[in-house]
Amino acid sequence: MKSDAKTKIVALIGSPVEHSLSPVMQNMMFARLGFNYLYSCFNVKKEELENSVKGIRAMDFAGANITVPHKIEIMRFLDSVEPVAKKIGAVNTVVNMKGKLRGYNTDFIGIISAIEEAMEISNKKILLIGAGGAARAAAYGISQKNGRLIIANRTLEKAQSLAQEFGCEHIGLDKLDSIKADLLINATSVGMVPDTGKSITTIKQLRNFSAVFDIVYNPFETRLLKDAKKAGCRTIPGLKMLAYQAAASFELWTGKKADAGLMFKIAKKSLAGE
Ligand code: ATR
Repeated sequence: MKSDAKTKIVALIGSPVEHSLSPVMQNMMFARLGFNYLYSCFNVKKEELENSVKGIRAMDFAGANITVPHKIEIMRFLDSVEPVAKKIGAVNTVVNMKGKLRGYNTDFIGIISAIEEAMEISNKKILLIGAGGAARAAAYGISQKNGRLIIANRTLEKAQSLAQEFGCEHIGLDKLDSIKADLLINATSVGMVPDTGKSITTIKQLRNFSAVFDIVYNPFETRLLKDAKKAGCRTIPGLKMLAYQAAASFELWTGKKADAGLMFKIAKKSLAGE
């Protein structure tokens, strides 16, 4: 990876960031498409978030990705937030437009593209489990594509308020047995390393779904996805979402389309430690 006096920096701002797959995906694509850009990770604590945004401006970075736990808080430090990101309530991408920082959300694009690679969304019955930031991005994307949403969450009130916002049904997690649908999406963190033995559903419940998408991408094949295969469902790995959101962010910074398929392959290799 070369860097010289003209290299533009794109920062990942979050905490922790040490295991991020974004640098391998973005730096490979910058090199491939001939951009003298460097993607670099910065572990930023909550109390330094505002200063880190000032740093983007001060050092004229090309932009940034924002990750956990700053996707909501970052919004008040930016010059503007694009309406879709505002509606979702989270920013994961920042573009530096001549010193003015604008926030975007590409997570919802990642989610929709990952699903659309496997199936159409319009008119499909989709059970979305979770009511946090990832679930909000999924709910926005699916409602834009006219999917028929049902939201389930451990804390019922949160499912209810999200469902109200998007004009759809909601249920408690204890009512999963009663749902039959085209797609189940796990937008909770259940099953993520180190808790790889856990799943949000039982195999029996999965038999009522044609396809299962787990937003968790580490491990590559979660317990939920393994169970889904056993139950005869088509599976969509979370790494697809990660690659598509990365490609969408790349396009915002550079104006050029990135090859999400290639980004997926390199991220998968990197996750496997190759
Ligand atoms: P993110 O921004 O990644 O979506 P978040 O905002 O912290 O993260 O949301 C986490 C989601 O995972 C929530 O829907 C949470 O359910 P609650 O609203 O009930 O907290 C869900 N979640 C996390 N751990 C869970 C568990 N062990 N069982 C069920 N749901 C869980």
